[in-house]
Amino acid sequence: MDSTPTHRKHTAMKYFYGIIIFLVWLAFDTTEAVCGYESCPETKPFMVNVHLVPHSHDDVGWLKTVDQYYYGHKNNIQHARVQYILDTVIDALLENPTRRFIQVETAFFAKWWQEQTESMKQVVNRLVNEGRLVFTGGAWTMNDEAAVNYQSVIDQFTVGLKFLDEAFGICARPHVGWQIDAFGHSREQASMFAQMGFDGQFFARMDHRDKSKRADNLGLEMIWNASESLDEMELFTGMLYNHYSAPPGFCFDLLCNDDPIVDGTSYDNNVGDRVNEFTKYLEGLETHYRSYHIMVPMGDDFHYENAHKNYKNMDKLIKYVNSLQFRYNVFYSTPSCYLQSLHQTLETWPNKTQDFLPHSHEADSFWTGYYTSRPTQKRFERDGNHMLQTVKQLSVFAGLSSDQQKKDLDYLRQIMGVMQHHDAITGTEKQEVSNDYDRLLYDGIIGGASNARDALRVLTNLPEGEFESCLQLNISECAFTKDSADNVVVTLFNPLAHTSSQYVRVPVREESYQVTDEKGRVVASEVVPVAQPVLALKYRENNTQHELVFKASVNKIASYFIKKIEKTESKKIVLHNRLRKDETQSDVDSETVVQTSQIKLVIDNYTGRLKTIQMNGVVEEIEQNFGVFKTTRSCHYIFREDEPMDVLSDDIEFAVYDGDLVKEIHQQVDDYISQVIRIYEGVNRVEFEWLIGPIPGFGREIITIFDSGISSDGVFYTDSNGREMIRRERDKREDFSPDLEKQPASGNYYPVTSRIALQDNAKRLVLLNDRSQGGSSMNDGRLEIMLHRRSYFSDGSGAAEALNEEQFGDGLIARGKLFLILNAGAKENTIAERQAEKEIHLPFWKFFSKSKNAISNAVPKLLPDFNDLPQSVHLLTLEPFTDDEILLRLENFLDRIEGKVVSFNIRSIFDSLGGSEIREATLDGNLPLEEMKRMKFHHYGAGPMPRKAEFFMSQHKPLSANKSHEASEFSVTLNPMQIRTFIIRKEPV
Ligand SMILES: *[C@@H]1O[C@H](CO)[C@@H](O)[C@H](O)[C@H]1NC(C)=O
Ligand SMILES: *[C@@H]1O[C@H](CO)[C@@H](O)[C@H](O)[C@H]1NC(C)=O
Ligand SMILES: [Zn+2]
Repeated sequence: MDSTPTHRKHTAMKYFYGIIIFLVWLAFDTTEAVCGYESCPETKPFMVNVHLVPHSHDDVGWLKTVDQYYYGHKNNIQHARVQYILDTVIDALLENPTRRFIQVETAFFAKWWQEQTESMKQVVNRLVNEGRLVFTGGAWTMNDEAAVNYQSVIDQFTVGLKFLDEAFGICARPHVGWQIDAFGHSREQASMFAQMGFDGQFFARMDHRDKSKRADNLGLEMIWNASESLDEMELFTGMLYNHYSAPPGFCFDLLCNDDPIVDGTSYDNNVGDRVNEFTKYLEGLETHYRSYHIMVPMGDDFHYENAHKNYKNMDKLIKYVNSLQFRYNVFYSTPSCYLQSLHQTLETWPNKTQDFLPHSHEADSFWTGYYTSRPTQKRFERDGNHMLQTVKQLSVFAGLSSDQQKKDLDYLRQIMGVMQHHDAITGTEKQEVSNDYDRLLYDGIIGGASNARDALRVLTNLPEGEFESCLQLNISECAFTKDSADNVVVTLFNPLAHTSSQYVRVPVREESYQVTDEKGRVVASEVVPVAQPVLALKYRENNTQHELVFKASVNKIASYFIKKIEKTESKKIVLHNRLRKDETQSDVDSETVVQTSQIKLVIDNYTGRLKTIQMNGVVEEIEQNFGVFKTTRSCHYIFREDEPMDVLSDDIEFAVYDGDLVKEIHQQVDDYISQVIRIYEGVNRVEFEWLIGPIPGFGREIITIFDSGISSDGVFYTDSNGREMIRRERDKREDFSPDLEKQPASGNYYPVTSRIALQDNAKRLVLLNDRSQGGSSMNDGRLEIMLHRRSYFSDGSGAAEALNEEQFGDGLIARGKLFLILNAGAKENTIAERQAEKEIHLPFWKFFSKSKNAISNAVPKLLPDFNDLPQSVHLLTLEPFTDDEILLRLENFLDRIEGKVVSFNIRSIFDSLGGSEIREATLDGNLPLEEMKRMKFHHYGAGPMPRKAEFFMSQHKPLSANKSHEASEFSVTLNPMQIRTFIIRKEPV
């Protein structure tokens, strides 16, 4: 970063930019660069300060693929070429030192950066160090906030901010979130920003009724109290007034046709008129905001491809507005500089406690379809995260360090960042783009799997093991066992902190097997038939029609050995004849009971439906149904109902498999809907594995409904990005009344990324899921989840094509799981849900090898043991950070009601990771925690104003220690829901 003036001059001569200012700047400017808040433009007292914010919103895939957007081909689909945006913006910034630009999506910036020459990199470095090119948001992508899991959001901020830190240092660190295009906003996202030390965030979408009310009440900017469990999780949050676009008439981009500023002696001189129009706009804008500062975004989707055009006209706009009137002081600025101005005004701000979901941009248009759109891609993204967490931990344990290994891990990290983008995990992209995401993620997973294999060869006694992953286990398909599972070793990796016991299923032929653990002990197992609708799937290889099921117990890594044995008696599936309504039967015949020692399920023999569940000492009549919304105007984003849901009422055929370890009820609900209800011995939840598709015809959204008698009184709870729960009340919002007359269901759907629940004093019913979905409670006692959707409506905006996913020439078939827990209403009973949620999100990853050429006497490397951590502590992240550093994140996953403060010592973990020093960082890992200083804003109605601007610092003393320190220096305390992030420097080897 620090280059001598001579060197700079030399570089400047070598790469002649032809700009005098630039040369002068290089030759004479030897002062220390100031960046961040110190570099903010001066504002004027007694004037309205207008912060113009040049920006470009660059989707990391949407109508075009990531690369098509970057390079600029396929311009017939959408005119967008990100590489030239960066090229021309840099040029334009050099022409005038007052110009500024905010760069948001690090995925694109990183791609551009690697193409630049050393001297160009220096030029950009200067712009960053002088606060002229200002990274804002700064994550790999601008992530969605409804369908994402917090773990993946934290990861993608870590990746983006780390790139910026390594390229530029502290001057590149973003100070505010810039979530302008996300389709609604989650509370957890705000909490994560606060935990990263961000000062605030800005966005541009909220329910239209909420927005107009806030616009009238000076409520567009607020203090969001982003956590019910964590203290001081306040985040300043600002809503832009005119979307994120330039004021109408003032788009100077080549994608717009607004008039330029015509000045000089031209007969067409329009300076006076344009200045008037602009100040008129400002007058209007000003009335909606509290302070004497207003922010005006100057940009839009893929703008600034020819930045000169934009800046030339903005320069003139600024010049003439400032010279022709005295009320407004207009200048180039950034969102963080605007925020700093607000902070300094000592204004007070209204409170916000819930979230901004669901989003609705106009009457009868709730963006609740995307919570479920592209269900298989939403699941694939979870597989990606599962592999990413697995391979991160394995890389640390095995010390993987080759260039290829680092490249593969980075690639998977980055692709997972791409998948969080608000047109990726949301399913709102075009089909071609969706296919490209699948391709990228598949490549990422394959690279990750190759690293995992390298690691496992070192970490187990199978130095030549294949350690293959099977990505189609959900349909009982695995190339590795398709011919025979004889002499197959299943190596299980447990990403969780604590030893876990889980059932493992391996696709096999109908043969008998014996499973043994590493000590040669026989483990109980059984061979279970695969449900008929899965076998009937076309294009599925049909050789494994059974699954071998056994229960495994794994600390971090454990191998189980499968051997074929002489045929033994195996249990068969029993078909149940459905009873006709007119047949009078005794009670015994009218129902089928399926039970384990914990759970009893009763199926109604007349309807074939689930009727009663008994578990945790609670009995409840729970009827499950499937329903269909027939919709003609739904799209990728919007679930738009035309008529009430049609509940499928035909009686259901079913068959029961009654094994020792697992009991299954196989139901054929409709031609295209089937399900396996499953309970395992020793597992306290009911699994519903659904299979839906091809959805016949178009314009159908498939829902599953669980009706109970629980008096929930309109109240239900959904998770926020997999962490804290948010209380929902049917037909209500926190701050306004939504327009639900025509869209009663759609407007009551909320994102369910991990859990939806309801309860009364006696009972609590919960569903956990395996991917993001939309869910609601449209009647008291009812939980419902949208599982799959297909539409034929293309509204010309949005993705401009119908959401009509096909595979193998027919509508897409999707499969997935819901998990049900019924419990007594007691508060602490939600702890089991938290544990289940972690196990569902990060189960064992299964690796397959052949045992014959593999097993050796090699002594596996001793792994760090995390079992001493309190039960409520989650190993959120363990990954290589730099070449000699490891990042460790620990989370207390119980909230304030469920859990308590836990304290423990991490000295032994530190030692077993080979640590020499440890320091604590903000949530993203890139800023030392002791340097965190966040702006604190003053609440409206909360007593006298402070005399000067206030800040939040870390509430606890950041951990900082090295090897020579006493063990007591390594003690860690976690409040409920608290996450702490540590960087461990390794002992040099
Ligand atoms: C696979 O085999 C099973 C049993 O033999 C049969 O019922 C099923 O239809 C087969 N699937 C396909 C796609 O042929
Ligand atoms: C907003 O929240 C703060 C802090 O929790 C509280 O002191 C204040 O009274 C609240 N203001 C209003 C108007 O509810
Ligand atoms: Zn976007």
